[in-house]
Amino acid sequence: MMRNHANNNDNDIVRISISLPSDLLDGFERTMKKVGFTDRSKAIQAAMRVFISENEWVSEESSKGAGLIELLYDPQTRNIDKTLTLIQHEYNHIVTSSTHIHLDDNNCLEVIMVRGDAKNIKRLARELAGKKGIKSIRINFVKVI
Ligand code: NI
Repeated sequence: MMRNHANNNDNDIVRISISLPSDLLDGFERTMKKVGFTDRSKAIQAAMRVFISENEWVSEESSKGAGLIELLYDPQTRNIDKTLTLIQHEYNHIVTSSTHIHLDDNNCLEVIMVRGDAKNIKRLARELAGKKGIKSIRINFVKVI
């Protein structure tokens, strides 16, 4: 990823250049228009803010809670189902259950219900996210105070 500072010292705006699949960009642009964005930069900024806010709990090592890890992945990827199952076995102290939906030839949705320390849930999510074939991961965490 390239990163350059633009000539705008007041707001410290930076310009970046990223690589991404063209169908992902097409989908992003279609969605941003549907929700009313006309400026791609503004839409990406909004998406980044959501990403940051959804993942803020990750830095709170001591929290306890429960939640869902939602994985979208390509079932054609070699050994992916076995890999995902083995990882969940390793974390059986926090995984309470999981549900699987076979969406189409190239998409499966696996929803893993978890309960326990945020730091363990974070570790599990990180391990899952790093596997080949994972298209997206979304974590919904409810903190128990
Ligand atoms: Ni499936």
